[in-house]
Amino acid sequence: MNSYRIKNRDDYDRHYRRGREDAKNFWAEIAENFEWMERWEKTQSGSLTNVDVKWFEGAKLNITVNCLDRHLKTRGEKTALIHEPSDPNGAVARYTYRELHHSVCKAAHMLQAIGVQKGDRVCLSMGMVPELLITMLACARIGAIHSVALAGLESKSLADRISDAGCTVLVTGDGAFQGDKIIPLKDIADEALKNCPSVKKVIVHRRGNCHVSMEEGRDLWWHEIFDGMPQEFDPRGMEAEDPLFILYTSGSTGRPKGILHTCAGYMVWTAYTFDNIFQMQRDDIYWCAIDIGWITGHSYMVYGPLLNGASLVMYEGALEYPDRGRLWEVVDKYRVTHLYGAPAIVRAVMAHGAEATKKYDLRTLKVMGSVRNPIAQKAWLWYCENVDKEKCRILDTWWQTETGAAMLVSFTSITEQQHTFEGRPLPGVYPVLLDERGKTVTGNNVSGNFCIERAWPGMARSIYGDHRRFEQTYFKPYPGHYFTGDNYYRNELGLFKIKGRADDIINVAGNRLGTIELENIINQSEWVVESAVVGFPHEDKGQGIYVYIVAKGVEEEEKLVDQIKATLEEQIGIFARPDKVQLVSALPKTRSGKITHRILRAIAEGNPGSLGDMSALLNPNVVEEIRKAVISS
Ligand code: WT7
Repeated sequence: MNSYRIKNRDDYDRHYRRGREDAKNFWAEIAENFEWMERWEKTQSGSLTNVDVKWFEGAKLNITVNCLDRHLKTRGEKTALIHEPSDPNGAVARYTYRELHHSVCKAAHMLQAIGVQKGDRVCLSMGMVPELLITMLACARIGAIHSVALAGLESKSLADRISDAGCTVLVTGDGAFQGDKIIPLKDIADEALKNCPSVKKVIVHRRGNCHVSMEEGRDLWWHEIFDGMPQEFDPRGMEAEDPLFILYTSGSTGRPKGILHTCAGYMVWTAYTFDNIFQMQRDDIYWCAIDIGWITGHSYMVYGPLLNGASLVMYEGALEYPDRGRLWEVVDKYRVTHLYGAPAIVRAVMAHGAEATKKYDLRTLKVMGSVRNPIAQKAWLWYCENVDKEKCRILDTWWQTETGAAMLVSFTSITEQQHTFEGRPLPGVYPVLLDERGKTVTGNNVSGNFCIERAWPGMARSIYGDHRRFEQTYFKPYPGHYFTGDNYYRNELGLFKIKGRADDIINVAGNRLGTIELENIINQSEWVVESAVVGFPHEDKGQGIYVYIVAKGVEEEEKLVDQIKATLEEQIGIFARPDKVQLVSALPKTRSGKITHRILRAIAEGNPGSLGDMSALLNPNVVEEIRKAVISS
């Protein structure tokens, strides 16, 4: 076990205090657990005020040595990766730590052979296959910067990301499985590359047996180069602050931002938080049911688990393929102990009924972690009742692409848990709530804009190619602080609960209401599957409340609408009574499953002309449906 594991509540309090009062020694001791080629001179330098934070300056390292090489002596034959294919009857791939090490080294040789060098940007657009994880680590082994683009992006979005980072190489596949469909990755790439002159070579991994066209001199098959490569590759010594990867955020507004993370701080932070959140035992099996193309996949599917020598499951396909029971089938098949995913999983299973969970053996599950959206209380309680009341706890985690890894957690076994609260900050995370004027909001049961007042090792260092935008977005609103963009509530125990994005706060006649807070109440209705609340300009009240609802099994829609209005009035106050409630068949979402309030707001404002870019949406057709219904109503 690592020396940095928090053992109990007292330990947490001690670590938390030390992380603030004696931060440099605290982090230096944690960093001792890793392998360094050269030791650091300064644990931390720079400041949030100057937006030039550095961690472990002077150190040299390679993160893959810490993910792979250092485990070979103690757990070389331990399973590192189990790959569950999309087809439930397809072949399962397994890699021990030794085998994964060999594969990463071979892939590093492959990249080097086509000219990739330290500092080069490599774009990865692949399905959820082991070779995606292997290529990421191969880039890190060489010192190249990986930029993973989610499979399924349209060619224009892919081209934007490739050009923004000036990638010289693209690694892609022929196709990626998504349910019973295949995403034609190579065709999408070919279209994108028409506008990306920086890309000189393309490696194509065969998976879908799709027919693809290969461009002479540019395109190469993975297996034709990889198979003959040597199994050892000397890791490149990286400076602590050398970039490790770029990851574009879903960006609900404007141009996507290439969030930049660097080697040493990200490594220490990801490993430290992963270990403390999941508290895994040696034989436990971890499954992160989120695509690698999101930060969750980077930090808690690839780097966090491997840095801690865990065994991880990677699943290729769609979660409900071929049916709703797949999630639980995979848990059962590999005796998964730790499952991490979006709350949508809990909601989806709840919407389908409990029978799926009865069919499979889920007794191995100890922890079910959730991220990205608040877990609705209804779903949380349902889960506790139907999955396992005592043995498997829900663990909420709050973080962002920019924070590198989790910041707030409702830790199991370490701190108290309260339904619907994301929980407490990890040691190293020192949040403050600020009001609009930048004054600290003190006391209990208060809300404010959620800011962090101390640098932490895993924080993003910049937006690739646009440091000014980085400063403007995150540090200018509250000088000396990192601003998360979220609005938060803090209770008397010091637990935090998200109210919404700061710009999702609705001001009804001076009453500030969080959209999430309202949605949570609405979602308690047994007829409601999910909901979205937005504000719109209102002559008398400043802003009015507009509610969109996806309902199931309702006979009289009007009754439901009345009931929702009455419930909000009862539970919050007369000012929370919505002006409009609209039933819709689905809510527009990003591919990561985030409801796009921006679009719903534009419709509610009667401003559908300003809907903006919809290329990142999972279901753009529902927007049209909702818009039409509004116009005709
Ligand atoms: C935003 C960050 C690694 C996270 C995946 C999304 C929202 C995140 C929670 C949570 C409520 C959450 C916040 C945050 N969010 N976790 N547990 N409860 N909201 O990363 O795309 O960078 O989005 O997701 O609003 O700011 P992201």
